[in-house]
Amino acid sequence: MNSIYSTVTTPCLIMEQEKILEMLSVFVKHFGRESVFYAIKANSDIALLRLLNDNMANFEVSSCAELNVLHNMRVDGQRIISASPIKTKEFVKSAFEAGLNYFVVDSVDEVRKIATYAPRSSVVIRLTVSNKGSEWPLERKFGVDTRQAIELLEEAQRLELATWGFSFHVGSQCNRPDTWKDAIRKVGLAWRIAEKKGIRLQGINIGGGFPIRYIHAVTAISEIAKIIFASIREEIPKVKTILVEPGRALVGEAGTIVATVIGKSIRNKERWLYVDAGVFNALTEILGGIHYPIEAQKQGKQFKWKVAGPTCDSMDIVSEQEWLPDLNIDDRVLFKSAGAYTTVYASTFNGYPIPPTILV
Ligand SMILES: Cc1ncc(COP(=O)(O)O)c(C=O)c1O
Repeated sequence: MNSIYSTVTTPCLIMEQEKILEMLSVFVKHFGRESVFYAIKANSDIALLRLLNDNMANFEVSSCAELNVLHNMRVDGQRIISASPIKTKEFVKSAFEAGLNYFVVDSVDEVRKIATYAPRSSVVIRLTVSNKGSEWPLERKFGVDTRQAIELLEEAQRLELATWGFSFHVGSQCNRPDTWKDAIRKVGLAWRIAEKKGIRLQGINIGGGFPIRYIHAVTAISEIAKIIFASIREEIPKVKTILVEPGRALVGEAGTIVATVIGKSIRNKERWLYVDAGVFNALTEILGGIHYPIEAQKQGKQFKWKVAGPTCDSMDIVSEQEWLPDLNIDDRVLFKSAGAYTTVYASTFNGYPIPPTILV
């Protein structure tokens, strides 16, 4: 790998197939092949999607563009679900035509949208759950409480939709297994109320959120899965189907952004290093607190650096403090665990290119 890192044109994102397939097999082992739906928003590189498709992963999409990529790859609609609670009507219509019949909702308007553009499909109600322990919380924007969830199921029934069950998301990069336990308890409560009202349900979609190693070690997927299954046995013993939608955990650790030092300076007695991958063209999650491990390709005495991206903006700082050797212009710097939510978020602000992905 080291030779690629020093010869490739930068910036670029190297994705290691072996690591992606290893993570896919971890999820398949614990949840079953038919239950694993890759959330393609994390990294929708075509070669990566082909790899996952060839290895029989299923997919989660929520926009026309995401759907089109899979459609062009001839992925069967039955292997695709849509789990974002808000979708355009154009998307719902095309998704239905492509064979999708599973949609997550959390509002009455969305239930009606599904009934109109994807009649008789399955609807899944997204519950609000605590995102405690998540480094990238997703709790503010989506989800309903138990009472509203039951009302939505009743509306779905009236509109002749199939009431599939409940979904939640514990927040991305969640390193607290008990957060899944708490969420499943909440689903259990909603499930029992629904049953009492005669609403027939089938499954639970536990979303994504599984953590990856950035700077610190995280809980293994196997440990989290154990807690999830124990909680489900206790709270929802009648559940028939359990779905999972990993994004970050499937592709994050497989990715390395390779950057080149393009400038250096000393200001206020501090060493600054400027590299050609920054928060705008690759490492946007830094703005929300994600901290990538940074490695140099060179050995030697370590110095304390501030590492910045190439653009003119002062937000474009990738690390306030990093111990690295005495690097020079044209030396290489690696950002590890950068396979998820990097190139998909990126812009060409200030004319700096989005790193192309190279699958190796
Ligand atoms: C509905 C849904 N499913 C799955 C995911 C993937 O989550 P993660 O990358 O934390 O695994 C997300 C992320 O935003 C999501 O919104």
